[in-house]
Amino acid sequence: MSKQSLKRKIGIIIDIIMYVLLLAQMLYIFTGNIAHEILGIVFFANLIGHIIIKSSWIKALLKGKIKFDSKARVFSTVVTMLLFVCIIALALSSMGVSRTLFPDITFLGYTDLHRYLATAVLTLAAIHGGMHGYFRAKKKKKAVVLICLAAAASMAIGLFAVPYMNRHLRKVEVQYSQAVEGEKINTGSKKPLVVYFTWLENSQVSHDTDAVSGASLLRADGELMGSNRLIADMLTDMLSCPKASIKVTGGKYPGTYSKTISVAGDELKEKARPSIEKVDVSGYDSIILVYPLWWGNIPMPVASFLESADTKGMDIYLVATQGSTGYGSSVKEIKSLADGSDVHEVVSIYCEDIPKAREVLFAKFKEIYKD
Ligand SMILES: Cc1cc2nc3c(=O)[nH]c(=O)nc-3n(C[C@H](O)[C@H](O)[C@H](O)COP(=O)(O)O)c2cc1C
Repeated sequence: MSKQSLKRKIGIIIDIIMYVLLLAQMLYIFTGNIAHEILGIVFFANLIGHIIIKSSWIKALLKGKIKFDSKARVFSTVVTMLLFVCIIALALSSMGVSRTLFPDITFLGYTDLHRYLATAVLTLAAIHGGMHGYFRAKKKKKAVVLICLAAAASMAIGLFAVPYMNRHLRKVEVQYSQAVEGEKINTGSKKPLVVYFTWLENSQVSHDTDAVSGASLLRADGELMGSNRLIADMLTDMLSCPKASIKVTGGKYPGTYSKTISVAGDELKEKARPSIEKVDVSGYDSIILVYPLWWGNIPMPVASFLESADTKGMDIYLVATQGSTGYGSSVKEIKSLADGSDVHEVVSIYCEDIPKAREVLFAKFKEIYKD
């Protein structure tokens, strides 16, 4: 075997290892965080190997010696360069979101950005690998179809399958006092009220449900607890203030996640205002509104609360929880519903970070109530 063909074969093996590593990293709800971070390091070590193997091609490209004799060559080179840029950005964001290996690096530390970059890398890697096959393939059209399918599948994995798994298969166990109790913030003369909404307190879910089968369900000291309730408890503990739960009084949401998704989707389309227990906000000067994102927006019972409570002149601080989509369009919606109030984004917490959210909440609210 010539040196050239050996290099090519090693290159292909490294490509495949890198792709498999990326896929394995996307399954991090099964592997856990530490394995995810270690796999990340192995991935970037492979990248260095890949760059060394391809060094003569890179030198030729930099010296302008690569012949762009077809549109496919130009396309392939553009994809390779884009892939390189995305991998570098992914490396930076990996350190930014790292909780174990690089806890002090926060640059580009946004989980959403990290996931989108991983999806871009997975998709571009599928096209990049596919183009190698394309140049050798006799049936070019078939090669193009296969590349498109691989790219679409990679995109679907990153954009849909991973968030779906996060929402449906996440298993969270927390020790209540460890998650909730800690340092206090002196709010002085300010009087905040924490108002929260959580699916668990508004659904027909059986309390025997295993947390594995019910998305967004966590167990605190072995008891099922809504994620947003846990966040509300963290806030009431640190601010020594009361809390109120938004509770529907009519029909509760179904006891399964998938059925709730469809009911919630219909409610959003219809701009439904489910009836809720009255939440008395009089006597408070600010509301800390804790809510899950539903269909990229607020659950409609939260809209019922905002329309029914007199929050004029009050500050409303927003703490959202979600499975991938930041604040979505919830802030715009809340601003339009809470006319006359001062609405502030505080933090949108990714579902996996909920059990350890006290620290970030403490830092944010210490700033808010510092005077
Ligand atoms: C009906 C429904 C719709 C959801 N829609 C979204 C969504 O559009 N974007 C998102 O990131 N998460 C979405 N989620 C996930 C929740 O926002 C997330 O799991 C949240 O932490 C649940 O909090 P809870 O258990 O206190 O209700 C949805 C969950 C449900 C039940």
